[in-house]
This record gives sequence, C-alpha cells and structure tokens, in this order.
Amino acid sequence: MRKIAVVGSINIDYFVEARKLPELGETKLGNHFFLSIGGKGANQAVAASRLGAEVALFGSVGKDENSKIFIENMQNETVDLTHLNRVEVAHTGVAFIEICNSENRILVVPGANDYTNVSYITRILDELLVYDVVLFQMETPMQMLEHLIPILNEQGKTIIVNPAPAQKIKESLIEMITYLTPNEYEYQIVLDSDQSMEELLRKYPNQLIITCGTKGVVYYDGHSMIQVPVIKVDAVDTTGAGDTFSGAFTVAVSEGKSLFESIQFGNIAAGLSVTKKGAQTGMPYRLEVDILMKEE
Ligand code: RIB
Repeated sequence: MRKIAVVGSINIDYFVEARKLPELGETKLGNHFFLSIGGKGANQAVAASRLGAEVALFGSVGKDENSKIFIENMQNETVDLTHLNRVEVAHTGVAFIEICNSENRILVVPGANDYTNVSYITRILDELLVYDVVLFQMETPMQMLEHLIPILNEQGKTIIVNPAPAQKIKESLIEMITYLTPNEYEYQIVLDSDQSMEELLRKYPNQLIITCGTKGVVYYDGHSMIQVPVIKVDAVDTTGAGDTFSGAFTVAVSEGKSLFESIQFGNIAAGLSVTKKGAQTGMPYRLEVDILMKEE
C-alpha cells in the first residue's frame, strides 16, 4: 500500500446545536455544546488512518491550550504528527459550527493554518516527498498549493485536492491534479466557470469528481456519465462527511482500486460518518466499510 500525506488544516471545533438558528442581530438559546478536534486536513488524515492507511499530517498549530487539546486527542489515532509546524505568533485554528436539524454551517478562523505556507513546505519537503499520495484541502494558503503541486507532479506523485472551502484554482494547476473533488456548490467557483455540471465533467474525464450529497457522486469516464450512489442512513450530523469521503477515497486510490470502487468506498465511509455528532466521532474503521463494500 502506498503512503499518504495530508497537507492541510487543523482546528478546534466549537459545536453548538439549536432547534432554530438566530438571524443577524438576534440572540437565541441553544440546547447543546461540545468541543472536538477538527480541521479539514486533520479530519481527512484521521479518516484515512482509521481505514488502515499509513498517514502523516503536515500542518500547523499555535503554542496554546488548543494545540495541547489537539495533540492529546490525536494520541488515540495512528496519524504521524512528527512534522507539525508549531507557530509562536498565531493561535491554533478554530471553527464555530452551528448544527440545526442535522445540517450545519461553519465559520473558520485559520490562525496557525496560514503558516502552512511555502516557507514551512520548503523546510519539510524532503520528508514530504517520502509519501506517494498527497491530499490537500483549501483551508491553507493557495500560494502553498501553487508552489507544492508542481513539485509533486514533477515527482510523479498522486495528487488529490478536495477544494473546500471553494476558491478558484488556476487551469495550469488543475492539469497537474490527479483527482479534484468539489461538491455540487463548489465546482463552478473552483473551475471559475458558469458551464453546466455535465459540460465540466466532460472536460475533465476521470479527474473531476463531484459530490452531490444524498444524490451520490458523479464523474465522466470518457464514454458516459457515471453516478455512484450513497448508502441510506439516518443522518444526525453531516459535519465531516466530505472529509470522510476524501480520506476514504484517497485510501482506496492508494490501494490501486478503480475510480468507481474508490468512490464507492468513500461513499460508504461518508454515509457511516453522519450517524454520530462531530466531525471525527462517526468516522468508521476498516471492517465496517469492508462489510458494506461486499454488499454493493
Ligand atoms: O469539514 C468539517 C471541518 O471544517 C470542521 O472540522 C471544521 O474545523 C472546518 O475545518
């Protein structure tokens, strides 16, 4: 199995749950609060490691209480944190997550994540190049991706980008990405286009993979549009579902599974993850996903 590096964000998530969310200028009482570790990078690394991959996380934390909480909680996982960047001048990233009727909205303040930058990457490049598959999101600086992706491409690495939160990626960079996995709300922003989903999928066969929530995942295989369905579950909290998909999909790709099977694997893992509250709490372990894969 090929080794996976996740280059991405680390946050402490402050969850509040309410039956109705306040409008701007309004105060409402919520009914539940909890804190957990998150950040799209950390979540995707945890999802991949629970599914049996050898994973390292490259990212940044502050030198504050939240960084201790993060590192302590990660002791329960098998993600290699050796190369974390400990930043003096910024706080560990935080996310404020409001949950209402199993849906969420998230406000992130990146803090130390802004220091997962070119200078950090230059320091750890030799260690990073040991990995075969590299997974990114977009809660870290775009200049870092623009610097690193051409190097990885030159080295023949498999490059997977989950472009969340959405922002435009240059066409020259897209060409170097093995798989790009926006959701149905992000793809036009990321590709900076008002073309339809079908037109864009046709433009990037076997490369652009669009996740559409309960409607499944779509891609174009060069001949036809392929839709890979999701599993039916009672969703409690969808936070981290996209991250679980990305981590699981990357594991399957790293094992040499076909694109269709890799998406199936990602869909099953993501489906299982939404049955519990919190981004990482519901992320499944290998056996649970393998059992459902056999039934597909
Ligand atoms: O995708 C969910 C994640 O988005 C949360 O863990 C939060 O930290 C934000 O990064």
